Amino acid sequence: MKILGLSFGKKNANTDILVKEALFGAREAAPEAEVNFINTVNLNIGRCRGCGACSTQLEKGKDNVCIFKDDFQALEDEVRAADVLIVGAPVYVLQPVGQFKDFVDRFYCRHDYSAINWVLDKRRSGEMPGNAEDFPMERLKKRTVSYISVGGATTDNWTSMGTASLHLFGFPPMMKVMGNYNANSMGTVGNPYLDDQLIADMHEMGKRTVLGYRDDAVSFFEPEGKPQGVCPVCRQRLITILPGTTTVECPVCGIEGELSIKDNAVHVEFSEAQQNRARGTFAGLREHTTEIQSFGGICGPKIMANKEKLDALMDERIKKFDETVNR
Ligand SMILES: Cc1cc2nc3c(=O)[nH]c(=O)nc-3n(C[C@H](O)[C@H](O)[C@H](O)COP(=O)(O)O)c2cc1C
Repeated sequence: MKILGLSFGKKNANTDILVKEALFGAREAAPEAEVNFINTVNLNIGRCRGCGACSTQLEKGKDNVCIFKDDFQALEDEVRAADVLIVGAPVYVLQPVGQFKDFVDRFYCRHDYSAINWVLDKRRSGEMPGNAEDFPMERLKKRTVSYISVGGATTDNWTSMGTASLHLFGFPPMMKVMGNYNANSMGTVGNPYLDDQLIADMHEMGKRTVLGYRDDAVSFFEPEGKPQGVCPVCRQRLITILPGTTTVECPVCGIEGELSIKDNAVHVEFSEAQQNRARGTFAGLREHTTEIQSFGGICGPKIMANKEKLDALMDERIKKFDETVNR
């Protein structure tokens, strides 16, 4: 078993401390495991430039590698090699630090469980070039992950999108989430060591992440005294209201729930059927693959039919912008 701790915080600061404490717990549950820890602060991970080269290569029968050369590939290789992951990131302006998102954007498209299997099915049926059996399927292997969001604020209010955004890391290859922890009051380096409960929680979450890898029956880590999630899948408390209805959505999982008021308190029920189509399940990912494919079918013919007109219009608008607004 390979265990990887990933910290997007400053070197030896609070995120490092918390991820390492979780690794102590993980190590306890798996004395035989290989444990690796990476701090990303000095890594050069540029943004995804949306060039589409990874998808194009996949459709041409090749591997879907990222063509930009920086430290991304080395980090991706470490994530791919791991079975059990602890991922921590500091909150910068309500969300995980930007480097985390830059990694996720480049990682996502190359690890979408449904999209890759969709392409491989096409390779098997001969509709796309390439040999399906050559694809390194260990990229999509079973993994468990726990998330630690580290904020300086004293309440959840100023870390509102921390743990929710951390979920974007593991859902494409369907990593099983064993815990997500919102660590507040982390403004001063070393603070975690003064909170015995926090350290104990990190150990337990690390341990649970290993145990959950070995046994599907091991449950998600829910720390005592921390508010529980509303969504039963990601355990987050963010909700999107669909105006004029009692239907709401979990923005992380993309599933619908029914909102009601009972005893002056808000309740949201997510049916079993909805839970089974959450973004991090095969069904949820497949919905998106199908959606993307149908998008091409709808827009492709329209664009082809209007290609000349559209090209001329785009040139005209760019020119007009440069001549009038951008002078
Ligand atoms: C640019 C910047 C923005 C920040 N924004 C927030 C914030 O919105 N909410 C919060 O709780 N903490 C915020 N913080 C505080 C950090 O999350 C906190 O200090 C954390 O411990 C840093 O992690 P590290 O010690 O592992 O580097 C911010 C810090 C920086 C530098």
